[in-house]
Amino acid sequence: MDAPDEARILTSHSQGEDADLDVNLRPQKLTDYVGQRQIKENLQVFLDAAKKRQQPLDHVLLHGAPGLGKTTLAHILAREVNVNIRVTSGPAIERPGDLAAILSNLEAGDILFIDEIHRLNRTVEEILYPAMEDFQLDIVIGKGPSARSVRLDLNHFTLIGATTRLSLLSSPLRDRFGVTYRLDFYDDEELIEILKRSAKILKTTIEPKAAATIATRARKTPRVANRLLRRVRDYAEVKGDGIITNTLAEQALATLDIDPLGLDQVDRKILKYIIEKFQGGPVGLNTIAAAVAEEQDTIEDIYEPFLLQLGFLSRTPRGRMVTSAAYHHLGYPALSAPQSTAKMDL
Ligand SMILES: Nc1ncnc2c1ncn2[C@@H]1O[C@H](COP(=O)(O)OP(=O)(O)O)[C@@H](O)[C@H]1O
Ligand SMILES: [Mg+2]
Repeated sequence: MDAPDEARILTSHSQGEDADLDVNLRPQKLTDYVGQRQIKENLQVFLDAAKKRQQPLDHVLLHGAPGLGKTTLAHILAREVNVNIRVTSGPAIERPGDLAAILSNLEAGDILFIDEIHRLNRTVEEILYPAMEDFQLDIVIGKGPSARSVRLDLNHFTLIGATTRLSLLSSPLRDRFGVTYRLDFYDDEELIEILKRSAKILKTTIEPKAAATIATRARKTPRVANRLLRRVRDYAEVKGDGIITNTLAEQALATLDIDPLGLDQVDRKILKYIIEKFQGGPVGLNTIAAAVAEEQDTIEDIYEPFLLQLGFLSRTPRGRMVTSAAYHHLGYPALSAPQSTAKMDL
């Protein structure tokens, strides 16, 4: 874990002590999974159909920003159909042989969960194609001219893939999933429900207004909401008698430098940079990444989706542009030059 990330409260990636929090607060049943109504409805039908046919589930692809509940959903699915789940991730599977070993150890009906599936390397990915399609494993035995290919039968398993970046998934892989679900950002009411549930599990009392305050600053993301809750709880224990009042919540959030819309220093730095150095843009992602000293991937994975969702940033073929809503939020005078599509009335 690197220092800058650890210092940041809003990052949506799971890290350190957070990983434990994720596990403790993770809903176990589909009915406890807040929001994502459309997905839940579809999944219920999908589950019922599989149960009726007494066949393993089709392969499922989950995509969405970090912290929206992909891993949680994979575990819930395994529980609902009462099968084992084997968890791994794209970067963890280095060689085709690693994946072959995992696949050949799966029992009938088992779920294989591959997180960050867009980061599988090509040679490993090619093992997956026949495995997903025909439950066959093609392995090469020997080297050089005497090498030969052998086919092995696999048990019928279900692959659940999760990705934050659907566009980086090759189309042959994408095509082999029976269903694809896109997880959405959560609205304030859903986040409040999640916060209340989490407070109960953490045995903390939270005033309804405090839950609302935390929800509005949680980047529309459950993992961030839970992380803020923990920070606020710690603050309330030190500064008060442990009950999370709205006043304490606001004070705690102020010390974390999170503004009322949930923007942190890096979000503001990105927007200010584009406004001050590029008159609002357009500007390329690599330039932005260099200016704020973050990885380009981090910008695309964590900051940009939220800023786009807020309508503070827009993507154009020539780069990212800051919108007038962002100028307003940051207290800059209204845009002097009209942006691309605006027409000037002279
Ligand atoms: N729909 C939800 N309802 C309740 N809690 C959720 C929901 N989605 C996510 N969470 C909470 O957020 C945390 C992060 O979710 P996770 O599934 O790890 O996200 P992802 O895998 O998409 O990054 C979970 O531990 C859980 O506590
Ligand atoms: Mg995850």
